[in-house]
Amino acid sequence: MSQPLPKTTVIGIVGAGVMGAGIAQVAARAGHTVRLHDSNGKAIEAARNWLESDLREFAAKGRIAEAEAAAAVARVVPAVALADLRDCGLVVEAVVEDRAVKQNLLGSLEGVVGADCLFATTTSALSITALGAALANPERLVGMHFFNPPTRMKLVEVVSGLATGEAVAQTVAATARAWGKHTAFARSTPGCIVNRMARPYYSEAWRVLDEHAADPATLDAIARDCGGFPMGPFELMDMIGHDVNFAVTNGAFIATFGDRRYVPALEQQELVRAGFLGRKSGRGIYDYRPGAAKAEPKVEPGADPVSRVTLVGSLGIATPIVTRLEAAGIEVVRVQNRRPSPAGPSGWLEIGFARVMLSDGRCATQRALEADHPQLVLFDLALDYASTPRLALAKADQCGHAAFGTVCATLGRAGFACSRLDDVAGLLVLRTAAMLVNEAADAVLHRICTPDGIDEAMRYGVNYPRGPMAWAEAVGLDFFSLVLANLRAHYGEERYRTSVLIQRRGWSGTGFLGHP
Ligand SMILES: NC(=O)c1ccc[n+]([C@@H]2O[C@H](COP(=O)([O-])OP(=O)(O)OC[C@H]3O[C@@H](n4cnc5c(N)ncnc54)[C@H](O)[C@@H]3O)[C@@H](O)[C@H]2O)c1
Repeated sequence: MSQPLPKTTVIGIVGAGVMGAGIAQVAARAGHTVRLHDSNGKAIEAARNWLESDLREFAAKGRIAEAEAAAAVARVVPAVALADLRDCGLVVEAVVEDRAVKQNLLGSLEGVVGADCLFATTTSALSITALGAALANPERLVGMHFFNPPTRMKLVEVVSGLATGEAVAQTVAATARAWGKHTAFARSTPGCIVNRMARPYYSEAWRVLDEHAADPATLDAIARDCGGFPMGPFELMDMIGHDVNFAVTNGAFIATFGDRRYVPALEQQELVRAGFLGRKSGRGIYDYRPGAAKAEPKVEPGADPVSRVTLVGSLGIATPIVTRLEAAGIEVVRVQNRRPSPAGPSGWLEIGFARVMLSDGRCATQRALEADHPQLVLFDLALDYASTPRLALAKADQCGHAAFGTVCATLGRAGFACSRLDDVAGLLVLRTAAMLVNEAADAVLHRICTPDGIDEAMRYGVNYPRGPMAWAEAVGLDFFSLVLANLRAHYGEERYRTSVLIQRRGWSGTGFLGHP
């Protein structure tokens, strides 16, 4: 395990904007002297003022001693000229996201600092390899991708370009950990780990919305309540800003020479064109203008609940639904399933006239036809069926409203708020989780990062309740593989191609990604 840079190492930060100011605070609180430089002197002053008031607020809340806060502020020293960084042992560049500006700056820095000074760049999207090419010694440059705000977000992606020295990456990662961060190593690729892994979270939601399966508030509630995500995709994009989110997706699409997996949503482009950028412009998917009504998720109360249901076979991971029905006083009669499927839960509940089962990526209407059972209702994946307050359901077009109402009312008695989706393949959480797992499998296959690194990155970079690897282990890779194959057959799109690694694990019988 590499050692972090000692606290006596002076840290240089170039760019005193949102990221630079936050990183300066993190490094100063860890005990380093920080030299803060910006080509705009006013930005340095503003950053120091923010730092002082932020730390004072922290001290007022009792989270840090007043003396400690004052000492941290004092450790951040304005560097009027680039030459003032000459005694730094690590310089973190956090200037505008422009390749030429960053390359020029790094080149100039090389003439200022000592030969053993390390360089880190906070770039979100530029290639570390390309930035390193501007240096006489590219070995010393590594990506140090903080998340916004750097003072609160726990993850730092440590990104290596082709020429980055292994020891440099290790030392910078150890230093980030000494500053209280979790680290994940990545190879320089478009979007690195988090920004690339998270694409399906947005793009699957856009697809489901595009099929008018439900309104955004209902979809957001399903993602939060059933998927356990801290924010639904649409409210999150409204917070990030559609201009930023669209640019990242489009950037990944272009950087991968048009991989359909990253194709941006036309609807989001329309929002950007209209200037409906989200919270910051007062309007995005939702309306934030004064007096605007808050959009609420829809729930189907249903009617005519039954007091006795039949369980055919096993619901597998969804078995807690049965437990909750019984706890609500509903009798569950158990019968054997004569044709269980080898992949995933193949049992079902008979509630009134309806057959209720977990989606497998096919739409309900198709499954009703294949099973010759018109009253078919599918439910979505949930992070934890024992505690989810909501279930997302889709009925086959052949299924009657009364039969569907009985399902909703009966599940409602067991504490499930039932939200209806139109009959979209893979519903919302299932198709999103399957595509997250698929994306993660490809990242492991292409050695962009390790399985552990992915889960660490998604948990601490975007606060996902569970990383893709953990989803694969909890639900079963064979089941996700089936879901992906069904999605691909349904849409006929290469976008849903199954990662070669998932296919290989399936053939070898390993069953899940494991830790190669
Ligand atoms: N804002 C985010 O959410 C976020 C998250 C992760 C990474 N990043 C990356 O961090 C970097 C900085 O982003 P930000 O949001 O803090 O930007 P910002 O616009 O808030 O700040 C950039 C600062 O750099 C200064 N600057 C520009 N050119 C300079 C130069 N040649 N020399 C010295 N200073 C210069 C500007 O005056 C400005 O103060 C970018 O590469 C960005 O992609 C941003």
